[in-house]
Parts: sequence; C-alpha cells; structure tokens
Amino acid sequence: MTTTHAFWLAGREATGEATFDVTNSFDGRLVGKVSVPTEAQVEEAVAAAHAVVDEFAATPAHVRAAALDHVSKRLAERTEEIALVISAENGKPIKWARGEVGRAVSVFRFAAEEARRWNAGEAQRLDTEAGGAGRLALTRRIPKGVVLGIAPFNFPLNLSAHKVAPAIAVGAPIILKPAPSTPISSLILGELLAETDLPAGSWSILTVPNDRMPALVQDERLPVISFTGSDKVGYAIQQSVPHKHCTLELGGNAAAVVLPDWSSEEDLDWAASRIATFSNYQGGQSCISVQRVIVDSSVHDRLLPKIVAAVEAQVTGDPSDAATDVGPLVDEAAAQRVESWVDEAVAAGAKLLVGGKREGATYAPTVLTELPADVTLARSEVFGPVLTIAVVDGEAEAFAAVNDSDFGLQAGVFTHDLQAAFRAHRALEVGGVIVGDVPSYRADQMPYGGAKRSGVGREGVKYAMDDYTYERVLVLTGLAL
Ligand code: SIN
Repeated sequence: MTTTHAFWLAGREATGEATFDVTNSFDGRLVGKVSVPTEAQVEEAVAAAHAVVDEFAATPAHVRAAALDHVSKRLAERTEEIALVISAENGKPIKWARGEVGRAVSVFRFAAEEARRWNAGEAQRLDTEAGGAGRLALTRRIPKGVVLGIAPFNFPLNLSAHKVAPAIAVGAPIILKPAPSTPISSLILGELLAETDLPAGSWSILTVPNDRMPALVQDERLPVISFTGSDKVGYAIQQSVPHKHCTLELGGNAAAVVLPDWSSEEDLDWAASRIATFSNYQGGQSCISVQRVIVDSSVHDRLLPKIVAAVEAQVTGDPSDAATDVGPLVDEAAAQRVESWVDEAVAAGAKLLVGGKREGATYAPTVLTELPADVTLARSEVFGPVLTIAVVDGEAEAFAAVNDSDFGLQAGVFTHDLQAAFRAHRALEVGGVIVGDVPSYRADQMPYGGAKRSGVGREGVKYAMDDYTYERVLVLTGLAL
C-alpha cells in the first residue's frame, strides 16, 4: 500500500483534501503520495507562526540549541532510511544521498553551536565624542519576523536544513515549502522537529503547490523570503515584493580554471578526476557543478584526454545501486531540455567528444569543445551532466573568460601559486573562489551565495542567521564608563 505523507502545520501532522504523487524519475515507480494543505490550513500555519514571533525570539538559547542538536543526532541515526528516500524521490545516486544526509547532520550541529554563542551583543562606548559622555551602545540582532523558506529539488534535505536550522538558531518562526518533486525528505525532517520542545507555531512544512505560492509570497506576515532555485523565479519573487527581505540562492554556470603551473601528471590527473566527478554529480543538478572548464593552452593537450577518459568512466544507471555515479535528471522534461541545448550547440559547430545521448530521464555525461559563443549552452545554466572546455592563453584571459557570464556563484582555480590565488580572489566576480579544486566544493558553515545573477544574500549557517535578523541598538545613558 502506498503511504500518504502528511504535512506539518504548526508543529503537528495534518492532511488536506487533495494529494499529489511523487515518482522516481529512473523507473517511474510511485514513491509516495503527499497531502496538500487547504487554503484554511495554510492560513492557520501563517497565523500560528505570526503569533509566536515574540515568544520564539525570547526562547532561551539552550532550548533552541538543544532542539537543533536533537535534530542533528536523529538525522545521523536515520541516515540510511532518509538517504533511500532522497535517492528515490530525487533520482540521486545513493552514495550522494548518504553524503547529503551527512551534510544536514552538520548543518543542524553548526546551528546548535552558533545558537549558543550568537547575539552576546556588542558594546561600544560613545564618549569618544563630547556629546556621548556617559553613554554606551549595546547592539544585538533581532529576528526580522517569520521566514518563508522555499527549497529546491536538487538537495531536498540539505537545502531545507539551510533554511530551517538558522531560523531556529535565531528564534525566527519558519514556514518551509519543499519542492513538489522531492517533498518527502523534508517531511521526515518534520518528524524530528516534532520530537523537540520548540513552540508549536515556530515551524510548519507545507506542501503547497507552486501555483498557490504567489499568495504566500505576498503575505505581509512573512517578511523574510529565503528562496533557492532558478534566477527567473527568484527575481520574479523579489520584484513582486520589493519591500521584503529576500535571500536568493540562484543558478550558475560555474567554471574551473586550470592555470599553466598546474602541470604535473599528478596535478592533471587530480583536476581531470575532480572535473569529471563534479560536472556529473547528481546529474549536474547543482548550482556549482562544473559547467565550464577554462584551460591554459600549455596544459590543454595533456589534460583533455584525461578529462574525456574520466567522464567516460562515470557509471550511469540505477540511483539505488551503490556503484552508480550518475543517475537520472529530476524528470524526463529536464533531460529533453539538456538534450536540446547540446543538439543546438553541435548543430552550430561545437565538437562532441563524449556523451550527447538521452535515455528517458537519464542524460549521458557529455563533453563539448569549440562551443560557439551565441548558443544557449554558452550563456545559460545547463543543470545537467554537460561540460564544455575552452582554451585560453594566460591568467588574464582565463579570468576574463570566467567573468564572461551573467552568473557568479563559485569558481575553481587549479594553481599552486599563492599570488595567483589572491589575484583570482580579487578578479573573479563570484561568491567563492576554490583554489586547487573545482567550484563545486561547499562546506556548509562557510558563506555561500552569488554575485551578479546568481543571487543576493548568503547562506552558510552563521551568515543566514545574520540574514534573518537586523541590528537593534540600545543606548544607555548616565553611565560611569
Ligand atoms: C546548490 O545547488 O546551490 C547547492 C550546492 C551545495 O549545497 O552543495
């Protein structure tokens, strides 16, 4: 019998009148049915979150930290079960799904640690000017209000964790809306939150269909929106509510640069293996998967065959098989779109070195060179297992090629030269530069977010906590300083 998954309304399980199906994009099997909240239930969750704003902000740090620690511990205990769910609903190979649960364990633990040390306040003496004699400013951060977290399908658990954990850490109620294709792992997160003592209204996980989201986005009781997804939807949200605080984690067409000094056999083997793995992990459905390789002409001829061999060695197949590196995309339509972009590039003159084939929702790991500048693949985020390789002469040309993009999330620079690393950090218009590795490296405690059309604001637990709060100054007068 198929399970119907309830959603979470102000900390308790609830079901609505309708359901939708979650299917596995590899074999089409039904993974589960998910209940849809009615308008009245959504209203109840929003009202409950709004009502608890002051109470939650005043909850002692030890209560919030204990709840976060509990979720972290329980995620670790249930890793295998949750990884199987992620793999089934998303099509993500099981080894990557296990890794995702491990990251969510860390996100909740980081949030517990931050909750304990956060907001001690900053004292500033004001008697540095005559008018401030006997005055002291104490600055603390106050939650902006209820957070509406909108999570994507590609890391359904961990990117939900990145919205929920920092909100709990600062005492801001959150309403989480998971992606319709991958809601079940987020709903399991609800089971763990329900085991804590957090105030009832402080969290809800609502499986609201996308076409009903504009009303929630407009709701004045939800002043903070944290969205991860496409730039098109992200900026449409921001433009529809210009007075709200919007954190937008959007797309990218991330580049890996290989500079001339990265030239030993060992260097090139490492670069090829990392590039092949991280252009294809999760079918390339990560905002920081390697889409563009920009390689210096002095090492190109030796690196290219290594990349092609490493991409060919990627095992494509059933995501539940531990040996699989590359599973299906989220659905067949996504794979068809990737196919059409590659076909367009090849028709325009790009050279296909490997891949270029689709079977259902699975697209084969693909490498292209000589990409014409005006094709879709050259300018847009492919969000699929496709890699393009461009040859450049020298560092300046390489950095200019990275910046020749509307996006700027992260970049990888393969170099041993510390000065070159610092020059890259200064020159590259991105939110993060990874030296000696691919742009796909992300540690969940570091700031994560984009420049240009890759978004605004930062995630990474501590940084999201800053994003969800504002500074409020308390000036004390008549003090013996
Ligand atoms: C994303 O796709 O933006 C998230 C990448 C990650 O968390 O590793």
